[in-house]
Amino acid sequence: MTATIAIQQFSEISDDDCQALIQAAKAALGDRLLILGHHYQREEVFVHADVVGDSLKLSRVAAASKAEYIVFCGVHFMAEVADILSRPDQIAILPDLAAGCSMADMANLAKVERAWRELSEVIDPDECVTPVTYINSAADLKSFCGEHGGIVCTSTNAKHVLEWSFKQREKILFFPDQHLGRNTAYKTGIPLEEMVVWDFDQLMGGLTEKQIKNAKMILWKGFCSVHQMFKPDHIDAFRAKFPEGKVVSHPESSFEVCQKSDYVGSTEYIINVIKDSPDGSRWLVGTELNLVKRLAEQNRDRGTYVHFMSPTICMCSTMFRIDSQHLLWTLENLVKGKVVNQVQVPEQIAGQARLALQRMLDLNI
Ligand code: 13P
Ligand code: SF4
Repeated sequence: MTATIAIQQFSEISDDDCQALIQAAKAALGDRLLILGHHYQREEVFVHADVVGDSLKLSRVAAASKAEYIVFCGVHFMAEVADILSRPDQIAILPDLAAGCSMADMANLAKVERAWRELSEVIDPDECVTPVTYINSAADLKSFCGEHGGIVCTSTNAKHVLEWSFKQREKILFFPDQHLGRNTAYKTGIPLEEMVVWDFDQLMGGLTEKQIKNAKMILWKGFCSVHQMFKPDHIDAFRAKFPEGKVVSHPESSFEVCQKSDYVGSTEYIINVIKDSPDGSRWLVGTELNLVKRLAEQNRDRGTYVHFMSPTICMCSTMFRIDSQHLLWTLENLVKGKVVNQVQVPEQIAGQARLALQRMLDLNI
């Protein structure tokens, strides 16, 4: 029986040497393999993806895929979604299991269940609260939403998901990203005064009974460490220098940044807005550095300039964990019939999580 090849054997292989070896392994696996790549992946990995996209697009592709192996070049929650939405005989793989999402980790089942219990001292959450989880969350939180009549959203469909959720019940508990929740609720017409922040480290979220009763939107106190780096001052400085320039931000950025931006949307949206802009235009972009660098490169030839919003380098350090060596290690093991780093959600969690995801997919946005 062949043994699994150890990752240590790959650490000395240069990025350049990995490229041809990855292509050879891909060719050997043929259509048994599907590599999905999120837009934040580093270039040397991104180029090997069969399909690239934002969270929504990639979850739809995973759900429709026939491949035996779905190798997700992204972060842990994305591979979990691929596993939940694919057939039981398909295998979802994350080349480095340490590639998590620090925002997703800001909410966990114990804390959300505690919030639900504490809310029930003031209101009946099962009667009046729809739980909504951003797709950037662990599978058991998606399962919690499935079980409690709730739903999942991505940055692309969040507005429609909130509209659906308010049709079910009068309030929303939104986790883990307060910024996506606030920016989106504001777009649907909810004033800031009707939104409160649930501080999961405090009793009753640090809120009074009156605040909870009056709130329409209860926002979990989570955030993305990358997108919190973008500040309104960065936009002011850009506009002062380039008054004709345009600003586009991801909705995980703060309310103030999104309000000052000309356009706000998911990674796929950002790419399309810039692609469809006139030649010679200039953009300030508030999202992860690998994507912004790629956009700058792709648009340079038509005289379009793309600037990164923060003066300091800020990359998603967990997305960055997926490197050529881990991808090659994963593929060469598959060629030998060995599965490494499978992400498998137990069926007692996957069932309800699938329900919450399906409610989102059924909105067809
Ligand atoms: P998108 O769904 O826009 O790709 O965003 C995923 C993400 O993690 C952004 O930080
Ligand atoms: Fe998570 Fe932020 Fe990285 Fe997106 S950019 S995967 S939200 S840590």
